[in-house]
Amino acid sequence: MGSLRVSIGSVRLDRPGMVASGIMDETGASMIRMLRSGAGAVVSKSVGSVPKPGHPNPNFTETVGGCVNAMGLPNPGIDAFGEEMRTAVSEGPIVGSVFGASPEEFAMLADRMEDYGACAVELNLSCPHAQGYGMELGTDPKVVAGIVSAVSDAVSVPVWVKLTPNTHILTQIASAAESAGADAIVAINTLKAMVIVPEFAKPLMSNKTCGLSGRCIKPVGVRAVWDLHKAVSIPIVGVGGIEDHRDALEYIMAGASAFQVGTGVLTRGPEVFADINAGLESFMEEHGYPDIRSMVGVAND
Ligand SMILES: Cc1cc2nc3c(=O)[nH]c(=O)nc-3n(C[C@H](O)[C@H](O)[C@H](O)COP(=O)(O)O)c2cc1C
Repeated sequence: MGSLRVSIGSVRLDRPGMVASGIMDETGASMIRMLRSGAGAVVSKSVGSVPKPGHPNPNFTETVGGCVNAMGLPNPGIDAFGEEMRTAVSEGPIVGSVFGASPEEFAMLADRMEDYGACAVELNLSCPHAQGYGMELGTDPKVVAGIVSAVSDAVSVPVWVKLTPNTHILTQIASAAESAGADAIVAINTLKAMVIVPEFAKPLMSNKTCGLSGRCIKPVGVRAVWDLHKAVSIPIVGVGGIEDHRDALEYIMAGASAFQVGTGVLTRGPEVFADINAGLESFMEEHGYPDIRSMVGVAND
């Protein structure tokens, strides 16, 4: 039976699939539930300096082949989230996701996440519906380098940088992050999107624009990982539209060392991880791959 163990730099996981930030990861109890369901790690909800209510309803709906959301990064703030982290880290690896408006704020939040026991920090530089915090920062290579450098100086855990597909310079941004000290690239966050209700002649979301996720974005994510695998030497974590082991294999074979599942947890339930793990083991056995690592980038070399 092929091994499911993976390494993302110095972060070692028994299973290759993580819960993506923002899905079933807002409390210690929900993070523990996901670890027990077969996830190798959980990425926390993105947390900022102070409590934030996010955008009012409507802020989420299903669409063809996926979902759209404009949650606006609701979170309890780093002080309150510490209790949730402390509960969850005793059960398994938790990656602490943070967002901020400046290098100093990112560094402070990452430092706190390290104190709470995060095995790595993930910098959310890619939210398409959180003005001032999200992809405005993450689409400027100089700004990305400044944030990554400040965080790398502040923490000793690995620094992962989550990037947006809403740019034509993705590989330049990733290279800037790598040069500034990033330990891994996470791709992709949601695609900037909009839903209009004809009867109201208005956008559905209170925020008007939103982020598209789910299976319909998988080809965009796989292409992003493919390009990143050629552009950077640090590990890549693939995310976007993964709902079964074949989806995960596309990301791995494009160049991802591990992957995350977001919308798939909503559509398939927490069992999605056990199903993916079993599917990956069968695939490796049938095709003679000894482990996940032996499949990373094989479609891309
Ligand atoms: C309801 C919802 C909330 C999300 N919240 C966050 C978040 O707080 N931080 C973040 O980095 N990404 C967030 N995301 C993006 C996901 O982590 C993921 O990058 C994206 O949805 C693509 O993966 P998927 O197709 O598997 O959902 C959120 C996505 C959804 C659907």
